[in-house]
Amino acid sequence: MAKGKHCVGLDIGSSAVKLCVLKGTKRGLQLQAFDYAPLPPETIVDGALLNSSVVADAITELLRRHKIRAKEAAMSVSGNTVIIRKITLPMMTQEELRESIQWEAEQYIPFDIKEVYIGHEVIAPRKEQGQMDVVLVAAKKEMIDDYQNVCLDAGLKPRVMDVDAFALQNAYEVNYSFLQGETVVLLDIGNSVVTMNVVTDGVTMFTRDLSLGGADITEEIQKQLNITYQEAEKYKTGGTPGVQTDEVLPQEVEKIIGEKAEGIANEIQRSLDFYSATAADSRIDKIMVSGGTSAIPSLVRTISRISGIPAQEINPFQNISYDERLFTKARIQKLAPIATTAVGLALRRTNET
Ligand SMILES: Nc1ncnc2c1ncn2[C@@H]1O[C@H](COP(=O)(O)OP(=O)(O)OP(=O)(O)O)[C@@H](O)[C@H]1O
Ligand SMILES: [Mg+2]
Repeated sequence: MAKGKHCVGLDIGSSAVKLCVLKGTKRGLQLQAFDYAPLPPETIVDGALLNSSVVADAITELLRRHKIRAKEAAMSVSGNTVIIRKITLPMMTQEELRESIQWEAEQYIPFDIKEVYIGHEVIAPRKEQGQMDVVLVAAKKEMIDDYQNVCLDAGLKPRVMDVDAFALQNAYEVNYSFLQGETVVLLDIGNSVVTMNVVTDGVTMFTRDLSLGGADITEEIQKQLNITYQEAEKYKTGGTPGVQTDEVLPQEVEKIIGEKAEGIANEIQRSLDFYSATAADSRIDKIMVSGGTSAIPSLVRTISRISGIPAQEINPFQNISYDERLFTKARIQKLAPIATTAVGLALRRTNET
């Protein structure tokens, strides 16, 4: 069976659109392009596109900058209006499943079923028990249509619609592989969403999106120092905005970052506690972290300290080669935290359903 080409991976995050293009070669995956275009605050709120034309322009610019000819894209959504549920159903054929999934879904989805698109995937057929585990995904039609339209406006055909949690899982798997019997907590700590996916033996056990992230830190700096959002963002990411030379400010910033990082780690811990209380086997081997906010050096350490579980950053390019005329090692390292979701999307194929 022909494997199809890779889709253009488009991660439309609330702080920036990330684009990734991969190519399969005899020697493994190669990075053809990775780049991002920042989005102004309030362009995307709770996953909804409030200003579609700004997003379409950002995608268009990225395609132009890298002269990308591929035409089919993989995108993802996240946030608390996206419902992901693992359900157990009696063994049935794909056709029977397609017929019954709508009805099954109604029990799990807190929205009017007419307002959502539903996707499903069998993740673990258990023939002996006559059962199968199915992941059910539902997202508001309005939101999905907006993402698809923005993609079309930029001249790309939306081929795959994924969720951040599974794009994260795919990106992790291609770079690290899931070991037998191992439970890994995958985290993506972005600008406004923390995506969590607990994976055992390569199969997702539990997912959750928390509405928090780097924007909360920037807003706190903005408020406490009485400066603009853009200035606060510069301070947070290690720069010094304008000609501001007040030596006291960086110390303040450092304190706010530390406090907020602690808060994020505590929220993550609450979800881990929930997972542990409900899982058949609550043991967790390690926590692997990505997302722009994971670039805060103390954050991964704080997560590890609070959870008591080893934690480290994900390198989404670990198993992906790149042309050294296009990227320096330092550039790849700098881009790594924000790239994981886009890499996971760029792994998807144009002939997938
Ligand atoms: N060096 C850094 N230190 C602290 N924060 C950083 C650093 N670099 C980036 N960030 C923050 O990371 C966030 C962007 O990360 P990312 O691209 O993963 O988010 P996103 O995908 O746009 O957002 P989301 O998925 O939550 O909608 C921003 O809040 C940004 O300020
Ligand atoms: Mg993101």
